[in-house]
Amino acid sequence: MQESQLARLNRAHQSIRDRVGTPVEIAIMLGSGLGHLAEAVEEATVIPYAEIAGFPVSTAPSHKGQLVIGTLFGRRVAVMQGRLHLYEGWSPRDIALAVYLLRRLGAPTLVVTNAAGGLNPDYRPGDVMLIEDHMNFTGLNPLVGPNDDEIGLRFPDMSRAYDPDLLRLTEKAVERAGQEVRRGIYVGILGPSLETSAERRFLRASGGDAVGMSTVTEVIAAVHAGMRVVGLSAITNAATGGPDQKPDTVEEVLANAAICGRKIAAILGELLPQLPSS
Ligand code: 6GU
Repeated sequence: MQESQLARLNRAHQSIRDRVGTPVEIAIMLGSGLGHLAEAVEEATVIPYAEIAGFPVSTAPSHKGQLVIGTLFGRRVAVMQGRLHLYEGWSPRDIALAVYLLRRLGAPTLVVTNAAGGLNPDYRPGDVMLIEDHMNFTGLNPLVGPNDDEIGLRFPDMSRAYDPDLLRLTEKAVERAGQEVRRGIYVGILGPSLETSAERRFLRASGGDAVGMSTVTEVIAAVHAGMRVVGLSAITNAATGGPDQKPDTVEEVLANAAICGRKIAAILGELLPQLPSS
């Protein structure tokens, strides 16, 4: 029989429990090109995923694959540096396990960041989008299979997946940081191929503002585990053009990720001190 998520979670937690110290207040999951934020964590305990029992080990380039626990902007945080993507072949339940571990370390709140393409024609590369809601177009769900009632409900309500109070708190933090953000809908697709031109039109017509290959799986798991979620997308390129649009260079995308990374760091500097610790 397949090991239950709860048994996997217990085993993963057990394997690191004497290294993690006091409970974590905020969990942070960093997207592509934003991983350097983890380097700002003070008095960090760094645990490579390979040292966590039963944990998936990331292979994507520029993804480090480690859990960083320490202090960031005065708060006790656990940062997942190096995302697990469905397109790498991880199962949605592997990805959920990482989120459950963050919850088990004490965090009531998950802050997720990602790199995304802008479907909304008003968006410019380098913009940051505050995620108001998402559409899971991966075709997969991390809760498929037996439910562990000790983790969460069989049919969790996703109608306020991105906590409305925390959205307001984040908008205030954005103002204090002297930044501006967009507010929109994130569409998660499986990847690794990017969307076709026809799919871009479809996703935009369906109400999507940004498209990427992460986040929705983690957010479903986080809501399942009773966490409150804040999401920020780095718009690294436009996803608006037809077949005649010239593709973005990797250099342009990375430069825009760096611009967004600085904005997101400034926003988190104002937001983290204000987030509730329970
Ligand atoms: Cl799925 N599409 C586009 N166009 N850009 C992206 C992306 C997807 N994920 C990150 N950047």
